[in-house]
Amino acid sequence: MIEVKNLVRTFNSGDRTIKPVNDVSFELEQGTLASIVGKSGSGKSTLLSLLGALDKPTSGDVLVNGVSLAGMPDSKLTEYRRRDIGFVFQQFNLIPNLSAVDNVMLPMEFAGVRKAARLERARELLEQVQLDPDKHVRRINRLSGGEQQRVAIARALANSPKLILADEPTGNLDEQTGEHIIELLSSLSRDHNTTILVVTHDRSLANKTDRRFRLQQGRLTEEAASSRVAAGSPA
Ligand SMILES: Nc1ncnc2c1ncn2[C@@H]1O[C@H](COP(=O)(O)OP(=O)(O)O)[C@@H](O)[C@H]1O
Ligand SMILES: [Mg+2]
Repeated sequence: MIEVKNLVRTFNSGDRTIKPVNDVSFELEQGTLASIVGKSGSGKSTLLSLLGALDKPTSGDVLVNGVSLAGMPDSKLTEYRRRDIGFVFQQFNLIPNLSAVDNVMLPMEFAGVRKAARLERARELLEQVQLDPDKHVRRINRLSGGEQQRVAIARALANSPKLILADEPTGNLDEQTGEHIIELLSSLSRDHNTTILVVTHDRSLANKTDRRFRLQQGRLTEEAASSRVAAGSPA
């Protein structure tokens, strides 16, 4: 369970102060797939950075299963970032001249997992995102955008994180591929009981999530509850 409490992040730009995250509070039960929509510059990436401990709030706190990030020393925050969070970005952020398997193994190497176990888990994860580990031994930059994003999702899952933060993961993909990626995130959140928070510009993708938030000038509001429609079932 993630609890966000009165989170504020201000930046000084020249002689004025901007507040891209302005008193944001919400809770997500474990296993929820949630989305945030909002215009460019509304604070979405800033909010994800705070949740992933890539940045520190001006005030407020994030509690992960009751443990406060505000009270954590930097060494623990690094551990939290590596072990409890999986990041997925619009630009995939994969290592271009490594294979898919090697990319997925990397976070496990940082976490000190033995090589044989890393390899086995990387192959399993690639299968879970519907990639064939034997076919995807080529350098990652030879794969399509949709395939690369699947690799990035497998990598995000590597250390079995509690929370996956996805910042416009479909932004570089065509509509149909984007839909497949959201469906994949949806089934992963169920199968692994992983909480997934996805930022998207795309309304129709947001509509496929359990909970939908909107960020406007740093203020978060929740939209009417939707019940997630299973992929392929009639609406
Ligand atoms: N490190 C920073 N320093 C100063 N201003 C920043 C910084 N990061 C983001 N901002 C500003 O905060 C606002 C929100 O940015 P961002 O969170 O990236 O929005 P979004 O992801 O919704 O497009 C923007 O006005 C942006 O310029
Ligand atoms: Mg952004």
